[in-house]
Amino acid sequence: MKPIIFSLFNHPMTEFIATQLKADIGKFDLRLFPDEEVYLKINTAVKDKDIIIIDSLERPNNKILPLLFFARTAQSMGAKKIGLVAPYLPYLRQDKHFQKGDSITSRYFAELLSTYLDWLVTVEPHLHRYHNLNEIYSMPTKVIHITSVLSQWIKKSVNRPILIGPDSESQQWVSALAKYTGSPYIILEKTRQGDKQVEIKLPDISDYKNHTPVLVDDIISTGNTMLETIKHLDKAHMRPSICIGVHAIFAGNAYQKLLDSTAEKVITCNTVFHESNEIDVTESMVLDF
Ligand code: R5P
Repeated sequence: MKPIIFSLFNHPMTEFIATQLKADIGKFDLRLFPDEEVYLKINTAVKDKDIIIIDSLERPNNKILPLLFFARTAQSMGAKKIGLVAPYLPYLRQDKHFQKGDSITSRYFAELLSTYLDWLVTVEPHLHRYHNLNEIYSMPTKVIHITSVLSQWIKKSVNRPILIGPDSESQQWVSALAKYTGSPYIILEKTRQGDKQVEIKLPDISDYKNHTPVLVDDIISTGNTMLETIKHLDKAHMRPSICIGVHAIFAGNAYQKLLDSTAEKVITCNTVFHESNEIDVTESMVLDF
């Protein structure tokens, strides 16, 4: 039976996924009461239907309650399975006790979503100390990788790239991109000193003076990882950089700070809607289950 797709926050990939799955797009009302409690009404019959909710969950806190209420409402109306396609999945960074008493929010968030939903699909999640999502999510999960789309963009758009991964976690990913694009790569040493402070160590890259540095990261949040790296590349008299982030989080004025830097380009994928979205990964969103 055809699933019904809902996007509570108007994700731009909704139409594509509906067409791909020959699914209907469901109707609902969602608003806040004057006291800011959530009002929600599902207007499409969902009894015995599979439901797909597609929404990126950047700036998650105001989205989570509506999402959970939506899932429970659909369930109470007799929906069969309720799945979430979250091209950006938040709450993965706090994955250990950095200090005594720290909340492992990644785990509790995963428990919460797994209680309300039946399955989850996401794109390039920030897995650092977890090897896969099933270490914390107790529902079936699928991860969509977009390495080939990124490589195609780099091959088409950058002359003599040298790929730069900001930290050891990016090694696996950046080395795969390097293989696809046939480019050299280096991995930096990054030490995070606070929410907004990072220290970067750049190895000697004088052999790559005639290359274009392409900084690749999964998330651009404060932008400081990229900005620090750019500073070091400038000191090393490298060419202006191209900054590629998969998920355009851009906290505060991070995007403007990057635009004001010596970077030649700052671009992202369209998992999170933003003016920097230049790499379209919509066609990678194949929900073959
Ligand atoms: C961290 O490990 C991630 O891969 C990114 O490097 C990080 O999220 C970027 O954050 P920011 O833009 O705040 O430096």
